[in-house]
Amino acid sequence: MNILVTGGAGFIGANFIHYLLKQDRSDHVINFDALTYAGNLNNLDDIKADPHYQFVEGDIADRSAVEAVFDGFNINAVVNFAAESHVDRSILNPAAFIHSNFDGVGVLLAAAKKFNVDKFVQISTDEVYGSSLPHQQFSESAPLNPSSPYSATKASADLLALSYFKTYNLNVSITRSANNYGPYQFPEKLIPLMVTHGLQEESLPIYGNGQNSRDWLHVQDNCAAIAAVLKRGRAGEVYNIAAHQYKTNNEIVEGIIRQLQLPESRIEYVRDRPANDQLYSINDDKIRNELGWRPRIEFDVGMNETIAWYVDHETWWRPLLRQVKNR
Ligand SMILES: NC(=O)c1ccc[n+]([C@@H]2O[C@H](COP(=O)([O-])OP(=O)(O)OC[C@H]3O[C@@H](n4cnc5c(N)ncnc54)[C@H](O)[C@@H]3O)[C@@H](O)[C@H]2O)c1
Repeated sequence: MNILVTGGAGFIGANFIHYLLKQDRSDHVINFDALTYAGNLNNLDDIKADPHYQFVEGDIADRSAVEAVFDGFNINAVVNFAAESHVDRSILNPAAFIHSNFDGVGVLLAAAKKFNVDKFVQISTDEVYGSSLPHQQFSESAPLNPSSPYSATKASADLLALSYFKTYNLNVSITRSANNYGPYQFPEKLIPLMVTHGLQEESLPIYGNGQNSRDWLHVQDNCAAIAAVLKRGRAGEVYNIAAHQYKTNNEIVEGIIRQLQLPESRIEYVRDRPANDQLYSINDDKIRNELGWRPRIEFDVGMNETIAWYVDHETWWRPLLRQVKNR
């Protein structure tokens, strides 16, 4: 299969390309990425000479560039990771999010239809459901109730993608996963931000009272789930992907402090993000029952390995810090 992976130079996309190329050597992966501040070809340095892999630089909202890739590489399937992904940035600049997360998806869907691709997987997020009440878990049929410009553009793209299934019978599936953690995550996101601050003698800034809670899924487990949806997911279906490993921001930061042996006094509570959702919690029985997927990586093990990865890969994250400070 010739698989177009868009946004493959980012955190989850790069992990997914590595995962695919290890799993199935009959696949050919074309990574199409605009190399925004979050796109980093160093994430794929080890596979750049792999004959099953090719990189093309381009914007998913650029119709002629997108069509040239579909045409030139005889694309059979699309997995769309390309997006502006940081909620804080969406509050400062919603237009960039509308461009990549909605308009770009529209261009990709139209090209997928025009070139008759067999499968289109849209990578979405649990944030489209908005905040859960305690003990409430959203299933795939729950109403969309996004809070930030980021999650609103993702929810809008989900609806557009599903309309391509209903109207044109395009074989679309959507994944909505919990918060990912693991190697190659841009150091503006909670875990790498705190680890890199910790390693640089800086304070560890926690929003509000730190009681906001997220479900933490290791990126490898998400990649396995997305690959299952790509190969076996049903057309027109949404699949939630959860780990059911809920941690408050305080618990995450305390774990990092312990592992890096930092004093608690490094924690600094800062003004909360506007419309910060209290809790994300989703029901993922569907992917477990239909596709037999399960998360494999226990949180404490995955988290210890992830912190150790950032400690060992300072040459990876240090050049990226200027971008974090400039936002
Ligand atoms: N990180 C998470 O915890 C999480 C959770 C659920 C869903 N998601 C979704 O997964 C996807 C990937 O997230 P991530 O954390 O890897 O993001 P990321 O910010 O690390 O990477 C995004 C990638 O997309 C590229 N990109 C952005 N706009 C583009 C455009 N217009 N054209 C082409 N490429 C473009 C960037 O250059 C970058 O390589 C996103 O769609 C996000 O909404 C992420």
